[in-house]
Amino acid sequence: MLKQPEVIGIASGKGGVGKTSISVNLARQMAQNGKRVFLFDGDMGLANAQISLGVKAKENISHVILGQKNINDIIVEVSPRFSLVPGASGVQQMAALNNIEMAGIVNVFSEIKAEFDFLIIDLAAGISPSVLTLLDACHRRVIVVADEPSSIADAYGLIKVICQRSTRTDILMIENRFKRHVTDNTPNLFNLINQVCIKFLDRSIKNLGAISEDEFFSLALKDNKALIDYAPTSNAVKDIQSIIDEIIALGPIQGMNGGLEFFIDRK
Ligand SMILES: Nc1ncnc2c1ncn2[C@@H]1O[C@H](COP(=O)(O)OP(=O)(O)O)[C@@H](O)[C@H]1O
Ligand SMILES: [Mg+2]
Repeated sequence: MLKQPEVIGIASGKGGVGKTSISVNLARQMAQNGKRVFLFDGDMGLANAQISLGVKAKENISHVILGQKNINDIIVEVSPRFSLVPGASGVQQMAALNNIEMAGIVNVFSEIKAEFDFLIIDLAAGISPSVLTLLDACHRRVIVVADEPSSIADAYGLIKVICQRSTRTDILMIENRFKRHVTDNTPNLFNLINQVCIKFLDRSIKNLGAISEDEFFSLALKDNKALIDYAPTSNAVKDIQSIIDEIIALGPIQGMNGGLEFFIDRK
């Protein structure tokens, strides 16, 4: 029987806060650490993870959904231990999949023949039913937040909706674009959001840490490279490594309360 990989969904309320940057680099760095990692570009409709990696895939998840390809045939090996399941970009049907179609996507991942340890999913922003269906099926749900009012408000909105959908307690947070100051070097956005969740939702969230504002993100993107390949000694790479250490320290995945789950029927 094949091992059940741990599935980490990367979501945010607002777009442009760094989900793709984090997903790509988290996955690439985990592979560097010796883990076998798959990255799924799950931003249905506007997938762009492959651009960040300099990959030009001919086929993507839309071909699998349309029954033209098997999922094993669209997987692209990017570097040792690191593979990409490409997403569809600019395909209108893909941007408007219903819950049943999204459940079909979750189930099709069980057909992957390779052994691997982690599946990272780069999700679309917001609280559309398709995002929520994918996120519900993940073992770990990570919300990316930047320290600006609209990102905070939208992150809270997403957390609220997730809490309404299930009693699972595993909501994790990453603060992105953290600006280190000489006087105040400690990120406190987590505490702020966690307090609001405790007060109004009666639920707490867990902190995975912060990623610094780092110009290497956009420079690496222009060069179609992952950060570790472009600027291995950058602050952001160090931050991503400490987030990976936090994820590993979370220990085994908890019960999912039944429902749709990635790899549940993997053979
Ligand atoms: N920590 C960071 N420091 C500086 N720029 C960043 C950082 N994280 C992301 N960016 C930049 O922000 C933009 C949006 O990031 P992206 O990952 O595409 O967001 P999303 O996937 O959430 O829409 C990109 O140009 C990216 O280079
Ligand atoms: Mg994105």
